[in-house]
Amino acid sequence: MIMKKIDISASINGIKLPLCIMNASGVLCSTDQDLSNLLNSSSGGIVTKSCTYKPREGNILPRYFEWNIGSINSMGLPNLGIDFYINFIEKKKINKPIFLSISGLSIEENYSLVQKANQYSKITAIELNLSCPNILEKEKMLGYDFYGISNFIENIFKFNKKPLGIKLPPYFHEAHIKNIALILNQFPIFFVTCINSLPNGLFIDINKESVVIRPKKGFGGIGGSIIKPFALANIHKFYTYLRKDIAIIGCGGISSGKDIFEHILCGASAVQIGTQFMKEGISVFERLKKELIFLLKKKNYSSLNSFKGKLKYLQ
Ligand code: DHB
Repeated sequence: MIMKKIDISASINGIKLPLCIMNASGVLCSTDQDLSNLLNSSSGGIVTKSCTYKPREGNILPRYFEWNIGSINSMGLPNLGIDFYINFIEKKKINKPIFLSISGLSIEENYSLVQKANQYSKITAIELNLSCPNILEKEKMLGYDFYGISNFIENIFKFNKKPLGIKLPPYFHEAHIKNIALILNQFPIFFVTCINSLPNGLFIDINKESVVIRPKKGFGGIGGSIIKPFALANIHKFYTYLRKDIAIIGCGGISSGKDIFEHILCGASAVQIGTQFMKEGISVFERLKKELIFLLKKKNYSSLNSFKGKLKYLQ
């Protein structure tokens, strides 16, 4: 019997990833050590921690907590500032696509950050984060501001020449997804990443009768397995409404090869791992790769395109 070679590489609108699995921004991608570990790992690409112009300490500790099926965080954008991430990319041998995540505290700051990133050719692409839920001093979240987002992206594309994608928050109404997709379809966007954490969740320790993280009276963004149904729904609806050349990077609730399969079946071209990477560490990429290959062999698929977006409906 001839064994078919299983190809789990991905193309994000022409950006080639040797493997469709990468880290989600925020998780273990903030420091030189974190990013070096990712360079040496088998992840298919790297996303840096969302950066601001100046370095930030972030919110008071504890600011991250996880339980069996989820995580809650209110990190507050701790990051080393855009110059650190650009210097890292400029000085290291970069062996896979690297996405610079940007999350300015204001619209003006975002313009400056994108302008700066445009000056460096080793940055593969920009992931513009319009969905950070944890910043008190930030203007309202652009991802939920339908008028603001349109005007903002129009201005970005007046000068941006780099491959650029948008990290979106979860939406809970079809009309919202349709509206955002119709806006994004007007611009030369390379990809969207959906979804960011579910904003303003609350986890309680019943013994202590207390919240578990200190900032914002315990409220924070929710990630992990419990958000997978929302990630899948957002991916599939965006797959329906977005221009076909805008790739979708799926993010939310992946902890197994089966979860990756579901994201791709809904229309994702590649995936990102957040909470599970935090729980398991750098070996998560090798395990997920094995699990995905094993599943595709069992299903007799030889590449992601054989099933991408082909979710079936009941008659
Ligand atoms: C943070 C959290 C996010 O979900 C995000 O998209 C950006 C930043 C944070 O709190 O650091």
